[in-house]
Amino acid sequence: MGIEVVVEGLTKSFGKQNIWQDVSLTLPAGEVSVMLGPSGTGKTVFLKSIIGLLKPERGRVLINGVDMVNSPERDIMETRKLFGLMFQDGALFGSMSLFDNIAFPLREHTRKKESEIRRIVMERIDIVGLLGAEGKLPGEISGGMRKRAGLARALVLDPQIILCDEPDSGLDPVRTAYLSQLLIDLNAQIDATMLIVTHNLDIAATVPDNMGMLFCRNLVTFGPREVLLTSDVPVVSQFLSGRREGPIGMSEEKDAATLAAEQLNDSAHDHGSGPRTVVPQLEPSPGMPVRQAVRRRRERVLGMMGQLPEAARTAIMNSYAPAAGGARP
Ligand SMILES: Nc1ncnc2c1ncn2[C@@H]1O[C@H](COP(=O)(O)OP(=O)(O)O)[C@@H](O)[C@H]1O
Ligand SMILES: [Mg+2]
Repeated sequence: MGIEVVVEGLTKSFGKQNIWQDVSLTLPAGEVSVMLGPSGTGKTVFLKSIIGLLKPERGRVLINGVDMVNSPERDIMETRKLFGLMFQDGALFGSMSLFDNIAFPLREHTRKKESEIRRIVMERIDIVGLLGAEGKLPGEISGGMRKRAGLARALVLDPQIILCDEPDSGLDPVRTAYLSQLLIDLNAQIDATMLIVTHNLDIAATVPDNMGMLFCRNLVTFGPREVLLTSDVPVVSQFLSGRREGPIGMSEEKDAATLAAEQLNDSAHDHGSGPRTVVPQLEPSPGMPVRQAVRRRRERVLGMMGQLPEAARTAIMNSYAPAAGGARP
């Protein structure tokens, strides 16, 4: 089963440039979480800080009692083995076949026999739907297939925590929909804790159990998906509806004058202030195991109902109403 990741008061700067400050959140064990945020808000820096590749100045990242910020490097290296990383660009070696790319971490970090490596690699290739393409070079396949190969490689060391950096970048809407389903199917099969960084609104609406958003050097909020999906916090609703009107400008935040002018103009635009609908979360494909996270998450979320906004509570009650879990309204 996946492992909980606890982030406490994390602050990261490069020189004088503060990237984000005082970020605290918990990735619940085995659940799928999404981190949203405009480009340049430090999402990749956040992922690298979680695995201890970048060192925030303040705060802790606790995984099985190891602090990925302050523990001795030896402990951090050991804990890093629990992770599977899927990079933004797939990060495949161009001169190696998909098979060799996916086998690379096993050959590099384990002493497994070639026959065992073959078994593991082919199983992961099957999970991501690339059977038959294992002999191809990265340059001979589509961007979507390269993404999936990157995911397969992230899976070979049996990770308990999976971090995906913009797995959808460069994919068309149909490929993105397949990828969303693949991420949910993967979670059902291996019950790993997953954090997906994306600005894809379809992934945000359908994949995660939990969602957060980085904006303006702060974590705007992090919690059950329904909290963000029904939020009326301006940056969140602007982002989730993809509007120009709102606090997010072309290069991060807008200045006060622009915002004020926009608000004067506001009556001219109808932003649809009615309650936003929360689409159902994706379920594993037929034949997949049940997601273990679902039952744990239900107990966890029902236990925190008192702290949640009204709109989120209503959405959660609606989603849990058809008791058996399978039925859809
Ligand atoms: N190693 C680094 N040294 C200095 N600045 C960096 C480094 N890595 C990232 N940054 C800066 O941190 C900011 C956030 O970057 P990033 O995490 O890549 O944003 P995002 O992934 O949200 O688009 C950017 O302004 C970037 O220039
Ligand atoms: Mg990035």
